Amino acid sequence: MSVTIYKNANIDNQGLTSFAVENGKFIKFGKDVEQEYQDAKVVDLQGKLTVPPFADAHIHLDYVYTASLPSKETASGTLFEAIDNWSDSKDKLTEAEIKRRAYIAIKQQISHGVQYVRTHIDVTDPKFTALKAMLEIKEQVKDYMDIQIVAFPQEGYFAYKDGDKLVEEALKMGADVVGGIPHFEFTREDGVRSVQKGFELAMKYDKLLDFHCDETDDDQSRFVESIAAFTYFNGLQGRTAASHTCAMGSYNNAYAFKMMTKFKKANLNFIVCPTENCYLQGRYDTYPKRRGISRVDELTENGLNVSFAQDSISDPWYPLGNGNLMHQLDFGLHLSHMMSVEQINNSLKFVTYNGAKTLCVKDYGFKVGNSANFVVLNEDNAFDAVRNTASTILSVRNGNIIMQKEPEKVLTTYKF
Ligand code: FE2
Repeated sequence: MSVTIYKNANIDNQGLTSFAVENGKFIKFGKDVEQEYQDAKVVDLQGKLTVPPFADAHIHLDYVYTASLPSKETASGTLFEAIDNWSDSKDKLTEAEIKRRAYIAIKQQISHGVQYVRTHIDVTDPKFTALKAMLEIKEQVKDYMDIQIVAFPQEGYFAYKDGDKLVEEALKMGADVVGGIPHFEFTREDGVRSVQKGFELAMKYDKLLDFHCDETDDDQSRFVESIAAFTYFNGLQGRTAASHTCAMGSYNNAYAFKMMTKFKKANLNFIVCPTENCYLQGRYDTYPKRRGISRVDELTENGLNVSFAQDSISDPWYPLGNGNLMHQLDFGLHLSHMMSVEQINNSLKFVTYNGAKTLCVKDYGFKVGNSANFVVLNEDNAFDAVRNTASTILSVRNGNIIMQKEPEKVLTTYKF
């Protein structure tokens, strides 16, 4: 295979450079690559911001475009009502229908430069309809996207009959990650027991862990401490993620700051879903209303790994969503009060490197020998990319173009 050189790339906002790709791998970086490979095909990226592909660490691809499915109209806009409504309607789903909808969402994600996805799949279903569909999809799209499947018991390990056994069966069928939802179990004790069970399964089957955790404004919801403890005492640092942790926004500071030291010892990954939780939380507040956001700024200042994710595309939990992580970044920075120039300049990591780190992707980023996976945004620098929620105009995977977009042209009749 011949060498392709990409020149005038503003890689990770570090200034213009060039790089060479051969056999699907990065083989060299630096302005002198053109002299070295004189027969190479040359692609001019025209100074555009070039970053690793977007990594969406939390979405539910089995739920996408089901917002109108529940027979009951959503009245309260709360998480718990959505789970009840989903429970009543999920029996009607077929594998073919789940696949049809998931492919639409995956194509939309690819159009926004996403190449790494962790999807939770509801396994509180003895027929495993969604899991069977997603295992096939994962294989079908692997040339375009890496998908990790979480065995996610939407209705609980214990609140749903034999939920724990269903999670185990899902892992045997091929799910990659152990999920859970301790704040949905009947009691605090059951919630902790579900976390413990999740860790037992992760170690038995050598899987990563990712819990829906404290997705509530209840300041007494503190399962994140159990997740940190089980991670630390089992030596699973870096392999565990706590998704949502909205309650952290309501914790008192004495507790939150004590927990920061524990989170660091556990090297816990945090996944935050800005638009989803901005919509779902604060629903029991009159005014002032909480924002449903975890302590992104403090976690980041403490060196913890935080990523922003989509969570839902038009499902009973959230009516909008389009797979564009630049939109999540925009919301996440606003809701987290992280808008200094430096914070904005460094913020793309929340939807690229940090998500990939949570997914434990090894072959990620601009290094010689890594797979040549990258995207080009339609702006010259990180600040303007964030300010304008820039489009992804090129997505390259293993050296092959998998998506290319014509930049928007604006025609005007201005006379000034
Ligand atoms: Fe979720």
